[in-house]
Amino acid sequence: MALRLRVVPLAALLVAVLLCHCHAAEASVRELQVGYYAETCPDAEDIVRATMARAQAREARSVASVMRLQFHDCFVNGCDGSVLMDPRPGMEGEKDSLSNINSLRSFDVVDEIKAALEDRCPGVVSCADIIVMAARDAVVLTGGPNWAVRLGRDDSLTASHNDSDNIMPSPRANASTLIRLFAGLNLSVTDLVALSGSHSIGKARCFSIVALAYRSALDTLCPQGGDEEVTGGLDATPRVFDNQYFKDLVALRGFLNSDQTLFSDDVRTRRGGEGLQ
Ligand code: HEM
Repeated sequence: MALRLRVVPLAALLVAVLLCHCHAAEASVRELQVGYYAETCPDAEDIVRATMARAQAREARSVASVMRLQFHDCFVNGCDGSVLMDPRPGMEGEKDSLSNINSLRSFDVVDEIKAALEDRCPGVVSCADIIVMAARDAVVLTGGPNWAVRLGRDDSLTASHNDSDNIMPSPRANASTLIRLFAGLNLSVTDLVALSGSHSIGKARCFSIVALAYRSALDTLCPQGGDEEVTGGLDATPRVFDNQYFKDLVALRGFLNSDQTLFSDDVRTRRGGEGLQ
């Protein structure tokens, strides 16, 4: 029991701290810090939290969708807001990359947060920091722990479709591929398992599991040749940030192949969770 209770906060912390750390290691501009906007925009964190809470009240899933933006932003050249950039002549951007097209959602929530912050303190809070604050708030608003986030990121002026295609993992990926990918970003096997625990909230499309090896339980929701835009919860409690995701993997009820493989196919990731105890 102690094991289960402690995995959740760690997963949450890793979501924010490790992903941001990737960027911090590369940032040449300034040291990230807790309370970065204390002087320049003291209400920034309250505004983000309140806007996320309103979004959640409108649509429960939206907070998970915003949280996912952090993963897709930070993995591709650091936490720099590039995932939010619309394509423009000469720059395809990341929104239409393989992992993102028809999949990333709730950009409107980030727009709403940005508009509220611009209203209060024009030109101060970066979009990269908004994503990091909002991802933390998604965990809090779905019943997970709270933690302080380090802020002070600048927004990128470019976004790379190719880098996103080359970096972002497929839901069909197996454990060794995921271990290698995460290791390339200085993330351990334990980090991979903990971060995958983000799938405690949110949904995925049938499209994402067509090649799933563990599909028997999902046949009703996602029959062969059925509508691939139909969605199912990533775990049995998709509105609550809890330990259900890991319990589902042990019960062989992982939704994505990239989830179930962590328990079923590789002793390193099966044991990786033990590092979280
Ligand atoms: C380990 C590799 C990972 C893979 C292969 C993966 C893949 C996916 C896929 C395929 C979906 C469903 C997309 C769709 O059907 O449209 C999804 C959803 C999601 N992912 Fe991941 N993911 C991974 C790691 C992460 C991490 C580290 C986070 C941390 C933020 C995360 C957060 C989410 C969330 C919150 C959702 C639900 C989004 C929603 O409901 O809109 N994922 N992921």
